[in-house]
Amino acid sequence: MAIELDIKKLEGLQPVLVKNNPAAHSNLYIETYGCQMNVADSEVVVSILNGEGFNLTENYKEADLILINTCSIRDNAEQRIFNRLNEFKALKKQKKGLLVGIIGCMAERLKENLLEKEKLVDLVVGPDAYRDLPKLVKEAEGGQRAINVLLSREETYAEISPVRLDKNGVSSFVSIMRGCDNMCAFCVVPFTRGRERSRKPETILNEIRELLDNSYKEVTLLGQNVDKYNWNEGEVSFAKLLEMTAQLSPQLRVRFSTSYPQDMTDEVLHTIAKYPNICKYIHLPVQSGSSEILDKMKRGYTREWYMDRISAIKRIIPDCAISSDFITGFCGETEQDHQQTLSLMDWVGFEFAYMFKYSERPNTYAARKLPDDVPEEIKSRRLDEIIELQHKLSHISNKKDLGKTFEVLIEGVSKKSDDRLFGRNSQNKVVVFNKKDNQIGDYVMVKVNDCTSATLHGEIVE
Ligand code: 5AD
Ligand code: SF4
Repeated sequence: MAIELDIKKLEGLQPVLVKNNPAAHSNLYIETYGCQMNVADSEVVVSILNGEGFNLTENYKEADLILINTCSIRDNAEQRIFNRLNEFKALKKQKKGLLVGIIGCMAERLKENLLEKEKLVDLVVGPDAYRDLPKLVKEAEGGQRAINVLLSREETYAEISPVRLDKNGVSSFVSIMRGCDNMCAFCVVPFTRGRERSRKPETILNEIRELLDNSYKEVTLLGQNVDKYNWNEGEVSFAKLLEMTAQLSPQLRVRFSTSYPQDMTDEVLHTIAKYPNICKYIHLPVQSGSSEILDKMKRGYTREWYMDRISAIKRIIPDCAISSDFITGFCGETEQDHQQTLSLMDWVGFEFAYMFKYSERPNTYAARKLPDDVPEEIKSRRLDEIIELQHKLSHISNKKDLGKTFEVLIEGVSKKSDDRLFGRNSQNKVVVFNKKDNQIGDYVMVKVNDCTSATLHGEIVE
């Protein structure tokens, strides 16, 4: 059967590369919330259903099946999704036969409750059960309860070729492992995504070769903790996988996410330093700058350990950009602990950070054992303070780039002006520059002449 490739725009998400199945009889609309891993999973889900007669639609009003790939990481993520489910419930009343399914982390966390108590959905499918979707959809069509939330120790969807839902046809996510064994006290992920398991390296490399054949230029290798990638008991480590990926083509940029301070080895850092096409950017979530809080969080490292890892990055990869995640107001966090976070941020000089207020998640160690005792207004004030500091640090870092020239991979046209393009440099900074006769997907050299805290501005140089 012939498979056509065509570019479409998907409402709510992004433009999308759709493999049209001419034998398709139904329309699928999918909406993705949460992390990059969920984006990669949605691509697997579309691929599975595409083979079963579903074409992707950009308009949920045309859909026969609506799937929402969900996130449980914080309570506000779940509340947003509940609101969206209520909107779709109203649509179901108007359109007979429309099926709505919830997949991903919330499906795993709330299980039958979503079918029984809330009666919001027809289908509930956890992150390890997507191969079962065709069967479950048929059951739901027949009016049965359709649920599979079994977690697996093996499933990695290794040989499934995902249908790309990315923005630009230039960069794509590639899942290299699933699950997480860390059990940080605040985190719901081990409950929603199950045990850690690595995907077979050949299948990862084949997926990336396919991307290269389709003119992609950048991949981000994804895992909850990529440093724990381990195929066949040490046969292929994360450092080795990075190297094998980088060797596929010098034209391919390689990124990865997320690293874990306890597990990030110097071997990985030396591999990054060795290959010019492995991007000089590491996302290394610290969560807190206080060793007491890190201990309560069960992160397995101290402030000093984290600082040692940062020193190693700066020593081995001097031009590396570093970003992090922070949680303010975790159980028992004092003003002194908070000051320690601010001082660590200052010491590292992060290029970028994702910052959150602590949100208690049911069943986690913290929810069971530690009182959520920092008042909401103090959490908010501390969050404001770290956001303000990060803003300054990002600006300082960007100002250091004035006058420098970077290789930039063009990703698209600037939102503010059709005459300007944007892309990112190796350090993952967004660079906006004048348009010449270049295409999206080209590499260009850009000299930086201006900046804000969020963006570098420059001109193409030969
Ligand atoms: N509350 C607030 N933030 C959280 N994160 C994970 N769990 C929680 C929670 N319960 C943040 C962490 C993590 C990022 C993905 O989300 O900073 O690194
Ligand atoms: Fe991703 Fe974690 Fe949210 Fe699940 S809970 S979607 S793994 S961020």
